[in-house]
Amino acid sequence: MSTAKNPDIRRRDSHIFNRDAHDFYLEPQWCSERLFQVEPFDRQAPILDPCTGTGRVAQAAKAAGYRVLTADIIDRGYPGCRVQDFLKRRTAPANVACNPPFNAVKAFAYHAFAIGASKVAMIFPVACLNAARPWLCELPFSHILLMTPRPSMPTGQHVLSGGHVGGDKRDFCWLIFEGDHVGEPRIRWLHRDE
Ligand SMILES: C[S@@+](CC[C@H](N)C(=O)[O-])C[C@H]1O[C@@H](n2cnc3c(N)ncnc32)[C@H](O)[C@@H]1O
Repeated sequence: MSTAKNPDIRRRDSHIFNRDAHDFYLEPQWCSERLFQVEPFDRQAPILDPCTGTGRVAQAAKAAGYRVLTADIIDRGYPGCRVQDFLKRRTAPANVACNPPFNAVKAFAYHAFAIGASKVAMIFPVACLNAARPWLCELPFSHILLMTPRPSMPTGQHVLSGGHVGGDKRDFCWLIFEGDHVGEPRIRWLHRDE
């Protein structure tokens, strides 16, 4: 059956077409601006964003007064950004904050602690929290920040070419890991406008 006659096939095709090869999705700037307003990181150390992309997390960290290290597996033009696969990196500063590929959050979180981080913040889809329990509980998972209103995260190409941003059906949170955390994780909200 042709895709023109079957909308389900057309929808599935377009989803595959829209998926970015390296999960280059762009979060709204307020997500990291608000993160650094409410969440304290070690000010003696820089913040590493290993998934810098266009630099929204890095810019927000700088604006909050942190020194920043930037890297990404693809050079997306952010000045000074090192081209590097994070999973091959051998050292990290105390602070890591990023919007990683969602299917790699577990590997990124483990790796960040393995190479020296002591506080890690990563954006994660709320719908994936339930299934993530086994590995989240193995890490020093301190709290989540539920982002509201729901941020939209279309592909970077869509945003940079002037496409409409809005209408995402997924909810997102920041996962916050703190090296010395013991006990159950807490739930907090991160509101864009407070
Ligand atoms: C969701 S986007 C981050 C968007 C970014 N916050 C911005 O302001 O543009 C994820 C980024 O992770 C990068 N990435 C994917 N796999 C990676 C890896 N193994 N190591 C480092 N960066 C990776 C992608 O190239 C992409 O730029």
